[in-house]
Amino acid sequence: MENQTNTEMHQRKGRRLVLFPLPFQGHINPMLQLGNILHSQGFSITIIHTNFNSPNPSNYPHFTFHFIPENLSESEASTTDLAVLVQLLNTKSVAENLKLPMMVLRTSGASSFVVFTAFPFLRERGYLPIQDSKLEEPVVELPPLKVKDLPTINSRSPETIYELINGMVDGAKASSGVIWNTFEDLEQSALANLGQQFSVPMFPIGPFHKCFPASSSSLLTQDQSCISWLQKQSPKSVIYVSFGSLAAIKENEFLEIAWGLANSKQPFLWVVRPGLTNGSEWLEPLPSGFLEMIDGRGHIVKWAPQQEVLAHPAVGAFWTHNGWNSTLESICEGVPMICMPCFTDQRVNARYVSDVWKVGVQLENGLDREKIERTIRRLMVDKEGEEIRGRIFVLKGEGKYLLEAGWFFK
Ligand code: UDX
Repeated sequence: MENQTNTEMHQRKGRRLVLFPLPFQGHINPMLQLGNILHSQGFSITIIHTNFNSPNPSNYPHFTFHFIPENLSESEASTTDLAVLVQLLNTKSVAENLKLPMMVLRTSGASSFVVFTAFPFLRERGYLPIQDSKLEEPVVELPPLKVKDLPTINSRSPETIYELINGMVDGAKASSGVIWNTFEDLEQSALANLGQQFSVPMFPIGPFHKCFPASSSSLLTQDQSCISWLQKQSPKSVIYVSFGSLAAIKENEFLEIAWGLANSKQPFLWVVRPGLTNGSEWLEPLPSGFLEMIDGRGHIVKWAPQQEVLAHPAVGAFWTHNGWNSTLESICEGVPMICMPCFTDQRVNARYVSDVWKVGVQLENGLDREKIERTIRRLMVDKEGEEIRGRIFVLKGEGKYLLEAGWFFK
């Protein structure tokens, strides 16, 4: 049996796959994890990447890397995410010209993608563009979403966004199949919905990060002091706070978060990415004496080894922006969430976390320190938190069961 598998692996060697992630952390991580999974199955892997946000090839000596110029200066690239996206959508035409079969890796969840496929209909029914007076109204055709959960981006040219989203959906429909970093038990109804809409096969083969961690594709240096600090904390006592690689907040929001954490009296580990706060380099907006006042009860870093942090027994909650990777990583470690989505799919993910899977609570309708303190108590102290912890424990078990069953070796 083993010999047969080895022969099979040998035969598959020489079958090369070309992977092209969007050049952002939340896309690079799952694509390189998928590359590792496919490589372990005998495929040769080539990564095409822009110079902007390039991963470190020396962490992947088993892959071949090709860097392409993105025709944008560093400053343009960091401020023109949309332009980079539009440019990279040409991948589809390159594959068509070369007559290469193309598969799509969707790095967001299936539930949010269902909403993207509904955009034409949502426009027809007047849900989009979003009107401020209707934010709290339900989207009756897509329960339990509210109008404010619809995955849009504020843009001066909404038509460009609609075009981009249509292109994304059409690209997936025209591909040979769609790979999802999710698992069936988590997003069954969304996957079934997409299965009806799409004639191409769906492969929900996540969670990838449990097979190959993201640390080697991290664009920023992960501060390992987080782990030694966590070692000194009591089990399930720490709130881990991180808003991913792209989200930005205003200075007054930053201050409310700081005071909310300080007043909660819970220990906290807070990732303040350089540039997180508009107009600041790092911690400048904090009042003087703040760090002395919290007296070791808080630890602030620029970037954390997130998966190790979430897996640490001292962590009791994750205050997150609900990027799909963060959401999935939290579920897989059984860590309940405080949801504060910023844009696009994050809003749908957050609604699913709070209202469908019921494994977290929302921090919505503005940020103030009292509300933050109350929300932290709901999760860390109240009975509601205990029930949430019980539910996420069950979900975690479902993801783990799939991994132990070794789905991708079959
Ligand atoms: C983006 C979009 O925002 C998100 O909505 C979409 O689903 C994916 O692309 P991002 O905002 O970076 O991603 O969030 P997320 O999807 O959560 O990915 C962040 C990744 O960075 C995670 O894998 C996380 O483990 C890692 N990370 C984050 C760290 O390694 N250290 C940190 O301190 C914070």
